[in-house]
Amino acid sequence: MNKRIIIAIDGHSSCGKSTMAKDLARAVGYTYIDSGAMYRAVTLYALEHGLFSRGDIDADALAAQMDDIHIAFGRDEATGQPVTLLNGRNVEREIRTMEVSGHVSPVAALPFVRAALTRQQQAMGRDGGIVMDGRDIGTAVFPEAELKVFVTASAEVRAQRRYDELKAKGQDVTYADILRNVEERDYIDSHRALNPLRQADDARVLDNSHMTIAEQREWLLREFHQVVGN
Ligand code: DC
Repeated sequence: MNKRIIIAIDGHSSCGKSTMAKDLARAVGYTYIDSGAMYRAVTLYALEHGLFSRGDIDADALAAQMDDIHIAFGRDEATGQPVTLLNGRNVEREIRTMEVSGHVSPVAALPFVRAALTRQQQAMGRDGGIVMDGRDIGTAVFPEAELKVFVTASAEVRAQRRYDELKAKGQDVTYADILRNVEERDYIDSHRALNPLRQADDARVLDNSHMTIAEQREWLLREFHQVVGN
């Protein structure tokens, strides 16, 4: 049997990373791990425990409670899709709201949050056979990953996709608000001091602004087979 490798998929928010990563994992029989969901779950915890005041996170209070935050992944019995569990509760829906999206960047910039989640992510990938998506997977979490993909698309294309997705879920959102959120997160994610979003030197770049899901899938599978050698 071929070696089960680590596949790191990084890129800007809302560029379809998770759809691609999930699809690739299914196609090659690997486990998919959404690292962004972990940052979102910590943010949801902070919101629910009153750790934000006027948009600012109380970092000391969050640091004191980090040991009480347990994040895991399960599977929705009805759909078979992976779901995020926060202290055993399925929070897959809550972590995708605009409220969480609007508060997650400052949480993801906290060094103790990154250290804790990076440690958990490394443990999840120890035996290979995973596809993990995020911002720093190929640079900080698994710098030794055998296949690194850096995904990008224009902010407008990404905002439109996010808008369609949230509308389909029945959320009351505007395109302008989403575009602003996408641009803000791009800025904060790329400019934070610790492990900012950046392309790893050995990453393969995929600009999917004008690609269909089927074309992306084909591209990824080609790269995968090239790396594993079959
Ligand atoms: O991929 P996403 O939009 O669900 O990620 C949510 C936030 O988490 C994003 O604004 C940046 C942060 N994040 C991160 O800092 N590092 C990761 N590996 C994944 C996500």
